[in-house]
Amino acid sequence: MTSVNSLFTPIRLGDLDLANRIIMAPLTRCRAPGHMPNELMQEYYRQRAGAGLIITECTMVMEDTSAFAYEPGIYNQEQIAAWKKITDAVHEAGGKIFMQIWHAGRAAHPKLNGGKKSVSAAAIAIEGGATTPLGHLDYTTPEALSEQGIAEVVAGFRQGAENAKEAGFDGVEIHAANGYLIDQFLRDGSNPRDDLYGGSWHNRVRFLSEIIDAVAEVWTHHRVGVRLSPLNSYNGMQDSNPEALVRYLCAHLNPMDLAYLHIMRSDFLGRQGGDVITIASELYKGNLMVNMGYSPEEAAETIAANRADMVAFGVPFIANPDYPERIRTGAGFNNPDPDTFYTPGAKGYTDYPALSD
Ligand code: PHB
Repeated sequence: MTSVNSLFTPIRLGDLDLANRIIMAPLTRCRAPGHMPNELMQEYYRQRAGAGLIITECTMVMEDTSAFAYEPGIYNQEQIAAWKKITDAVHEAGGKIFMQIWHAGRAAHPKLNGGKKSVSAAAIAIEGGATTPLGHLDYTTPEALSEQGIAEVVAGFRQGAENAKEAGFDGVEIHAANGYLIDQFLRDGSNPRDDLYGGSWHNRVRFLSEIIDAVAEVWTHHRVGVRLSPLNSYNGMQDSNPEALVRYLCAHLNPMDLAYLHIMRSDFLGRQGGDVITIASELYKGNLMVNMGYSPEEAAETIAANRADMVAFGVPFIANPDYPERIRTGAGFNNPDPDTFYTPGAKGYTDYPALSD
């Protein structure tokens, strides 16, 4: 049997010590009606404090940008106070927690946002629609952000980062993946702009860079992570040269001394292949977190071989609140129930048993 020991060596992100390298990936769970964090979420995150680091579900930095109806926000005082209870509970249980700060861009639905139009790099809609707790909603054509609009979103991320700090988080992860707003600028399939924010890699990365700078003014760079999904075609995404984009991003992010770079290795829809992890592990000098479909054994081998520093696990953390402990002891795992991933209430959320139950 492969040793899983490498997963249990501590790691330091800047000045933050993590007890292990088993990270809870950001997971949309749609348990926040009114975009308000609540006691049920507090229990869910507290149960999972054994992760080296919890990264929260994607959380709206600006009002009226909802893509899933019941995702949480971090744009008002009530939300800050409610998140504070969650970070306190995780810290009391010995855990560490980053908030994933997010703007859905063209994946937001006007029907969920008081009729407000969605925004993107360009006026190009995602084909089709999405199933939300309010039923099927077609995607709409977004408004292309003006430079003024871009500055407002950058300010929105900055405010979200400030609010996350007030709410007691240990840091923030900027969601630049999976076809949401920042990713819509990064990849050329959704960004045909010919101004400062489109065209060259440098220009496509400018929006992300401005957000990192704004957020790092609040947090310092070593409390800021960035998540990318260069191969994911989910949300109508494509790029003419994902590998080159990753090379450019690694070189661009290297001097920033971020907490980590978090890369998803494949495509939710299985359409686009490639190996971006080898590129990132060769070129990225800081802490590299990898994600998507790793078994504990493959994760341990990846870390032991210095191909990554941490591995984020998603679905296993849904079904196993004490996932690291189960890996460490070789105990079995609970099976996830996809039917309750996004449904309201405790079922399939806080009722998966821990070994100690
Ligand atoms: C989803 O719930 O479909 C979802 C949310 C955030 C992501 C990816 C997928 O980053």
